[in-house]
Order: sequence, then C-alpha cells, then structure tokens
Amino acid sequence: MNKFCTIYLSACLFVFITACSEKTNIQTNRIMNPVKKPKFETPISTEVAQKKADSIVVLMSLDEKLDLIKGHNSFFIKGYEKYGIPKVYLSDASQGVHIRESFLGLDLSDYALPKSVAFPNTLCLTATWNPNLAHDYAKSIGEECRAGGIGVLLGPGMNMYRNSQNGRNFEYMGEDPYLAARVVEQYVVGVQNTGVIATLKHFIANNTDYRRRASNSVVDERALHEIYMPAFKSGVDAGAQAVMTSYNLINGEWAGQSDFVINHLLRDELGFSNLVMSDWWSINDCKALINSGQDLEMPGGESMTNLKSYVENGEVAIEKIDLMCIRIIKTLAQMNFLDAPIKDNSYFEKFDQHEQVALQTAREGIVLLRNENNVLPITKDSDKKILLTGIYIDEIIYGGGSGEVKGYNKVTMLDALQKVYPNLTYKSEATDEDLKGADVVIVSVGTWDWEGCDRRFALTTEQEALVQKASTLNNNTIVIVNSGGGIRMNDWNHVKAIVYNWYPGQIGNVALAEVLTGVTNPSGKLPMTIEKEFSDSPAYGYVSEETSFLSDHKKYLDTSIPESELNRWSFDTSIDEAKDLLYDVEYKEGVLVGYRWYDTKNITPLFPFGHGLSFTTFKLDDVQLSSNEIAKSETLKVTVEVENTGKVNGATTIQLYVGEEKATIIRPVKELKAFKKVWLKAGEKKSIDLYLEQDAFSYWSPHTKKWETNAGKFNIYIGQSSAAIEAETKVTVR
Ligand code: BGC
Repeated sequence: MNKFCTIYLSACLFVFITACSEKTNIQTNRIMNPVKKPKFETPISTEVAQKKADSIVVLMSLDEKLDLIKGHNSFFIKGYEKYGIPKVYLSDASQGVHIRESFLGLDLSDYALPKSVAFPNTLCLTATWNPNLAHDYAKSIGEECRAGGIGVLLGPGMNMYRNSQNGRNFEYMGEDPYLAARVVEQYVVGVQNTGVIATLKHFIANNTDYRRRASNSVVDERALHEIYMPAFKSGVDAGAQAVMTSYNLINGEWAGQSDFVINHLLRDELGFSNLVMSDWWSINDCKALINSGQDLEMPGGESMTNLKSYVENGEVAIEKIDLMCIRIIKTLAQMNFLDAPIKDNSYFEKFDQHEQVALQTAREGIVLLRNENNVLPITKDSDKKILLTGIYIDEIIYGGGSGEVKGYNKVTMLDALQKVYPNLTYKSEATDEDLKGADVVIVSVGTWDWEGCDRRFALTTEQEALVQKASTLNNNTIVIVNSGGGIRMNDWNHVKAIVYNWYPGQIGNVALAEVLTGVTNPSGKLPMTIEKEFSDSPAYGYVSEETSFLSDHKKYLDTSIPESELNRWSFDTSIDEAKDLLYDVEYKEGVLVGYRWYDTKNITPLFPFGHGLSFTTFKLDDVQLSSNEIAKSETLKVTVEVENTGKVNGATTIQLYVGEEKATIIRPVKELKAFKKVWLKAGEKKSIDLYLEQDAFSYWSPHTKKWETNAGKFNIYIGQSSAAIEAETKVTVR
C-alpha cells in the first residue's frame, strides 16, 4: 500500500469514527421520559370478550336486545341468566359511594351498603396536585363498590371549571385540562384495578347546571380539543370502560344523541370502543340516539317506546341495535363480570384504610389562601380565647344530588376544633361583644352546591355581613370556606387568614384542625382561579343574575324560600319541557378558560390558579434545560432545584407553564404542561426533573383539524402558582 493510500484510508477511518461517535453522542443525549402513563389492562382480553359478545348477540331475540340497551330499574344493566350475563348495578359517584335504599319507588336495598366513606370532594382531591393520592382515593372507592356489589361507578366527573357558579364544580377537577388529566388517569386505574368500571362523565362541555337540559353549549372545535376533551382523553387512554354523555346540547344537538359528539369526537377521535351511556332522562329522539354511537339509554330507555316498530318496519337497522348490545356485553365480558361475582364482602375490612386516605386527601387538599401577620398556625392547646361562629360548624357539608355521600363516624368542625383548642367557644349568633372580646375569631362560611342548579358566586348577604362585621371588630379574624367552588371574597380586606376547606367529607375537619394548629403544613394549591368579581369571568352573562336565581325560582316554583337559601336555587326541566326553554351558552372565550383568560386579558384575579401558602418558604433555583434547542419529536428535560428555606417541613408544587413566543393563532400567554409536588424538610434541597414532549408545545388547528406544533421559540415559566413565576427560560423547537 503506498503512502497516499495509507493517508486516504486513515482519513476515511477518522471520518467514520467521528461520525459514529457523534451518532452515539446524539443517542446518549436523547432524553427519554421515564414517567410512564398509568394504564389499566382488562382481566379478559378484548378479542376474547368481543367473540363472547358476538356469540351471545346472535342468540338474542329482538325484545331481549331492546331491553339490554335500556337501563333496567333505573340503576341496572339488565341481566340474562341464560346467556351468563349478570344484572349489573351502577352507582354514583366521584367522591365516594352514594348509598340508595330506594329510587322512585324501587327497592335498591340489596345494593345499599351499610356505610360508605365520605371523601373530600374531587375538587379538593385535585387541589392536592398529587395524582398518586388520586389513585389511592379511587382505589378505596372501587373497593367499597366491590363490598356493595356495584359493578359500575358513575364517576369520575371531569367537566372543566369554566364557570364559578356551576353547581357541580365540586364533583369535577378544576379549570386546567393538564392537571385534570393527570388526576383522571390515576382515578380510572385506581377504580378499575379493583374490578369495577369507571365512567368518565359528562361528555361534553357541560359546564353549567342552570336549566341543564335546555342549555346549548356553543363551543368551537379548538376549545373542545384543547380544553374540554383532554381529561376524557386521558381517561380513555388509561383504559376507562365507560363514558356517560351530558345533558346539554352541543352546537344544537343534545350530547346523548349527537353523532358528532359520540361517533366523531369520542369514538373516532379518542378511540373509545367500550360502553357509552346517556345521562338520566337526557334523550328525546330515539332514531338520533341509535345513529349517534350511544349504547345504553338511562334510566329506562324513555325515548325508545316505538323502537321495536322502527326495527320491524326497517326504519332502524337491526345491525345498529346489535352493535350497541355487542359493545355492552363486550365491556362486561372484558371486566370478567360474566364469570366472576362482583360482590366481595372481604372489602369491608378495608373501610378504615379508606378513611385514612380520605384524611390524607384533606391534609393535602386544604388550601391556605391568605395568612397575614402569620396569624396561623395557632398551636394546639393555645390559651387564646377563640370564638367560632358561622355555618357548617356542627354538621358536615357535602355537595348535593347524585354525587352526595353522607359518610359515617363524622367529625364536625366543632368536634375537631374543640379537641385542639380548650378555650374555644362556639356561638351560632355571636354578638359584637363576643366578637370584640375574643383573641381570635374563626368564621365558617360556605355554599351548599347542588346538582341541577347553579349558585351565586357571592355568599348570601347574611354570611358576607358576618365576615365584614367580625373582621372589622376583631383584628384576628380567620375565615374558613366550605364550598364546592370559588366564591366572592373581594371585600375581605380585614380578614387575616382564609382557609379553603372545600367539602371535607367525614374526617376532613381533623385535617383542618391539624392545619390550623400547624401539625399539618398546608400544601394544597387552587385547581381553579378565584376571580375578584364574577363579571371578570368569561362565563359571566350566560344568564342574567336576576333571571337565573330569584325570578326563575319565583316564577316556576312559586314558593317563598328565605333569602339566605336563594343563592343556590335555579330550576331544572324535563327534556320535553327543555325544548321550549333552550338558551345558548356562548363559549366566546374559546380556549381562554381560567388563568388562560385572566393572563391573556391582563385581569388580576383575587387568587390565581395554582396558589396556596405554606408555613414555610421555598426557593427555586438553577433551572437547567437538557438542550436549548430540540426537534419536535424530542423530549426536553427541565431540571430545577427546590429548597425549603423556612423552619418547618413542608411540601410545594413546582408548576411549569409553556407559552409560544410568536404564535400564529391566538394562544394563552402560558399553559400548565408539567408539575411535581415535592416534600422537603426544613433547610432541605432537592433537584427535580420535569419532562416536556411535543404535546406541550402544540395546539389544535381549526384549519387542518389536527394538533400542530410550530417551529420557533417557546417560553418556559416555572413557579409555585400561575402568578408566582420564579424562573423563566426559552427553548427553540425546530
Ligand atoms: C347525573 C349523573 C348521575 C345520574 C345517576 C344524573 O342526574 O347528572 O351524574 O350519574 O343522575 O344518578
């Protein structure tokens, strides 16, 4: 080999080795997201279940098929012993098992648990920002279902918090689709791993309960995809076995009989192939229902009176009915309901553990909104003269309607606070002297939120007056709010501390006492924005305040309800009456829901999304990106150091928001795309990793009708609330 050849070959070898090592480098630098999405696997494979369903449906008579696709005795799927299909009981709901002894004259006592744990409501669960806890919470509820022989839990509810007056916000998961999605996926896996079906509800854009069957949500496809669908998508991806459609109309058609909603959005786009059921009494057109992708009309197939004749005269194809039956049986078969009993009494032994999960949820979900002059904590056994006044003190307050769970072993606020404060006096009607004479005044206020009606953002006049009076007369006034959503607190200028207790469930007031005494350091963060005035909200004006409450109530119910109660009443209608009372709810804000609205419109809320104080302080530092530039398909790792700079142990949630620098379409200033709750001892420091994948940068394009990611610069904001951003950096996506 001559010299030239040797040099040439060496050069080639050098180029080859460099290329290889570069390649290796790129591969080793490539970030893999270690966070695995929770996923439920059915005990029986879909293929086997499908075959089973096919083989049963060919044997069924038309009458049998028509009975299967209607609810049976209001809360059942009809059983057929001869085909090995059990009768399956469906029970509410998201915050524990609603015990029903009877319903509209039907005896349900065989399925009535002797007791069920009342958990804090799911908005409180979401305020924990701890998806692992959502798993345990849901697992506990699933186990109670097994004890009661309940095959289908009619929850979790996950309609987005768009409107602070929505009477059902308490049973949902707040305003942010990313946060709700992380809770939902854990909830689904938690319930279903116990062998019980979880039902994602109410699909979709059901964000007010004011005349719920008559409200037409006028909402664009982009908002549906970016705001209202992600929680459902996460539930479907996690393996949910059932979905319930909603009462409202979507762009002119009732959700439960809408081809667009069920066939297009749910089945085609989200890929959901299991059981879909209607909400109770929400269908008025049987033929539309049959063509919509719906499977089961609850509670009893009310729209189906003429269905048999439609099938017999060929107006409705039998294949469509078969498909509905197949999907119902397939779902039950893949959960193994055809071969194993649902009821399992051994789960009764676990109720004490469930109560502990409920307690932990309250510990992590209670939010300390304000704490001026460090008025809290007030140590246990303090000799301070504490006056407790207001409402919901000697009773447990919970959200009403189907989601209602009464609980047992109930600890009232009075029980819990008397245990820790020997000098506490309770006065239901405190005089000026009482208020002035106390070292500390604790005022308990709240709203009793109910399904089937919305409630005012503002408290009743009496409650507001009490807060004003107490805080003016006493410099150390603490307000405890018991509510299923946000309330108006804009004038509480003299109130020193505000503690959000949500609906605490049967044992949550123990956690409240722990928070007030400092035994538990609060770590809950708001899962929604609390605006100053309802008129700041994009939902404002959906019905005039006067119409929605007072006048409707007087006009239709014609009873005199004391003013103090009026804040939670509106009026519900049957689906038939609804036709004449339709009204539009215009979702004009599009994707700008919650903090996305307040940020983008520069409206300062009273308490921002993600806000919640602690008795210690945390500092964020040293934000590092795995790369300043990534390809769309790559994952970005964001590392941040968190330090507990105070004197007590505590937890905070690090929140990461992303905003596109030069968006080609209106986009929110920033959107939550990752978070992590961290527990740190006093003085402790930890480094945490957060991961962003392509979906953190993308938006749903109304033009291409797909998710799109623009190349360009994105701002990354990291903080401990949506308004307390402590670090900002940029990444380029190419
Ligand atoms: C509610 C559903 C509930 C159903 C059965 C309806 O009124 O909207 O959430 O699951 O009743 O109780």
